[in-house]
Amino acid sequence: MERGRGRCGSCRLLAVAAAAVTVAAAMAAAGVEARLSPDHYRTTCPGVESIVRSVVARKVRETFVTVPATLRLFFHDCFVEVSDIDLLFRLDALDSSSGPHWTVELGRLDGLVSKAGSVAGRLPGPDMQVKELVAMFGKNDLTLLDMVALSGAHTVGFAHCTRFTGRLYRRGGVDPSYNPAYAQQLMAACPRDVGPTIAVDMDPTTPSSFDNTYYANLAGGLGLFTSDQALYADGASRPAVAGFAKNQTRFFEAFMDAMVKLGRVGVKAGRHGEIRRDCTAFNT
Ligand SMILES: *[C@@H]1O[C@H](CO)[C@@H](O)[C@H](O)[C@H]1NC(C)=O
Repeated sequence: MERGRGRCGSCRLLAVAAAAVTVAAAMAAAGVEARLSPDHYRTTCPGVESIVRSVVARKVRETFVTVPATLRLFFHDCFVEVSDIDLLFRLDALDSSSGPHWTVELGRLDGLVSKAGSVAGRLPGPDMQVKELVAMFGKNDLTLLDMVALSGAHTVGFAHCTRFTGRLYRRGGVDPSYNPAYAQQLMAACPRDVGPTIAVDMDPTTPSSFDNTYYANLAGGLGLFTSDQALYADGASRPAVAGFAKNQTRFFEAFMDAMVKLGRVGVKAGRHGEIRRDCTAFNT
């Protein structure tokens, strides 16, 4: 069997993860159904969230890169497969930034399938148009508004040049939906033969703050990916973009709602999941 990148890799970070897994394993053995709730571990493992929180807070202070990486992984995991321990780490990393906060629903089991093939075709890509994005999110019970709100995660973080140079070096010239000055800036940072490790900020104006300028940027042709700029270009999604650009509170609220929904995607229950004793392997 082909293994994808270990979803449970973050477990190795902290002994508390192992403790929580043990507790959860005992619950699974007792036949506890995987039903999500914010206080899933209240009696069995009180304090698990605050323990994880303090460790992650320290990590975020050490490297701000953790925040966008966390959002990306959360997204990846929810559309593919996810378990509680990963989710706690991931969400706490975000919690420590200036962005919106929300309640995590706990009680997920680890997946029984782990292969690179399960990722293909399930994740939104940088070249997608609104119609394709809506279809992909719709498959996961997420609306167009959820999709536009979650795209706002591009307000922080980096992207590798190779993910968007197709827009810069097209046969017919630079993609005209780019702001010309922004395209020049991107071409300087990402020459035609750019290496795979070179990256740029996704939000060119306020790259280290979780805010709503991402949406205002789109109106100015400052969307890095086709899938960003399309949100403004398409009449179906433009009103949501305009609404979030005008009102950051509205963006934060929609983002939180969408993250909670995203956390419910593909939740494993009963026979369809297990609590792994070793996060990197199935129980056999
Ligand atoms: C911004 O959005 C929030 C949440 O939807 C709303 O309560 C508030 O009235 C809005 N503010 C303005 C100025 O429209």
